[in-house]
Amino acid sequence: MKIFIDTGDTTEIKEANDWGLIDGVTTNPSLAAKAGKNFKQLITEITQIVDGPISAEVVSLTADEMYKEGKELASWHKNIVVKVPLIPEGLKAVKRFTAEGIKTNVTLCFNANQALLAAKAGASYISPFVGRLDDISQDGLQLIRDIRLIYDNYGFDTEILTASARGPYHFMEAAKIGSDVITAPFSVIKQVIKHPLTDSGLKQFLEDWKKVANL
Ligand code: E4P
Repeated sequence: MKIFIDTGDTTEIKEANDWGLIDGVTTNPSLAAKAGKNFKQLITEITQIVDGPISAEVVSLTADEMYKEGKELASWHKNIVVKVPLIPEGLKAVKRFTAEGIKTNVTLCFNANQALLAAKAGASYISPFVGRLDDISQDGLQLIRDIRLIYDNYGFDTEILTASARGPYHFMEAAKIGSDVITAPFSVIKQVIKHPLTDSGLKQFLEDWKKVANL
C-alpha cells in the first residue's frame, strides 16, 4: 500500500519524507488555507520535497472551468494530479483530463456507486473519505471493501486512495482490504509507527546493555 501524506505543511512533509515512507502528497482547499501561502508557491515547494504524485484541487464548479484550472495546475509540475470533486461536472472534466493523459484524483466520494462512475470516467485515483463517514455513524471502511470488490469485478485500474484517515485502525484495515493508497495526516503516520512495547522494550535493552558495555 502506498502512503501519501495529507497536509499543506511543508515542515511535516519534509520530516515524513526524510523517514523514506512517503510516496505522495494530497492537499485540499482547507489544508491550503491552513498553510496560508500562495497556492502555486505551496505546490511548487511540495514538488521539490516529494518525488511522487501531488494532488492539487480545482475550486471551479463547471467542467469547462475545471478543465482550464486543472490544465494550469498540471502545467506547474509533471507530478501534479488534478483533484476534482465527485459531481457530474467533475466527472465530465475527468474524461477530458484522462483523454489528454492528465492524472486525476476524484475526491469527496461517499458511496460505491460514485466510485464506480469515477472509474468509468477514467479517474486515476478515487478518494473515499472513511473518517467523515464514521463521523456520521456510517462504516467508512465498508465503503473501501465495496469499492475494492467492484473495481476487481470489472478490472478498473483506478487506484483506491483511502482518505480522511483518523488513526492507525483505518491505516491497518485499509491495508488488509487492499486499498492501493492511504493518505493520512502526519499525526496519524506518527501514531502508526509507535507502540508502547517498542519504547519500553528499547529502554530496557539499553539499560541492560549499560551493565555489560564496559566489561
Ligand atoms: C483527502 O484527500 C482529503 O484531503 C482528506 O483526507 C480529508 O480528510 P478530513 O476528513 O480529515 O478533512
